[in-house]
Amino acid sequence: MKTVTLQSSFQVYETPGELAPADRELLELATAALANSYSPYSNFKVGVAIRLANGEMISGSNYENAAYPICICAEQSVLASAASRYPGVATTAIAVTILNPSRVINQPAAPCGACRQVICETEQKNRQTMRVLLRGQTGPVFEFEKGVDLLPLAFGGTFF
Ligand code: THU
Repeated sequence: MKTVTLQSSFQVYETPGELAPADRELLELATAALANSYSPYSNFKVGVAIRLANGEMISGSNYENAAYPICICAEQSVLASAASRYPGVATTAIAVTILNPSRVINQPAAPCGACRQVICETEQKNRQTMRVLLRGQTGPVFEFEKGVDLLPLAFGGTFF
């Protein structure tokens, strides 16, 4: 028997002002997308923006349904949109932000497990990792070098 230790690290920027201009722009686009969140059931808004290898940026938000299990997360909505609109073009960065209208969240909310799985699938499909930028309504920005850092031992297509 042996113990395996999994390690992951990420960068913390105290404010978006510390980010490179292109990353700040991506986060601003994600923040603007909060306005289009369709979330009448949870009242929890998630805004996402991605940057593609061709320089395009795509944004979107969560899209809920009265049949709760089919609510679509913002990350999945935007990554699926990119795969449809720009097939074969890799995603190099994703910015995620949140808004809870009933209280200020001053720390990043990391993507749910299903979204992490979709981020990893996208990285494998594109053979290209994506940086992950996370921010609450206020407070610091967390930057992960690649999506798989958020999902160690990820299940993937290599098992087939
Ligand atoms: N949500 C996302 O959009 N992304 C996540 O990673 C976690 C949760 C959405 C789904 C639902 O509309 C709302 O947030 C509350 O769970």
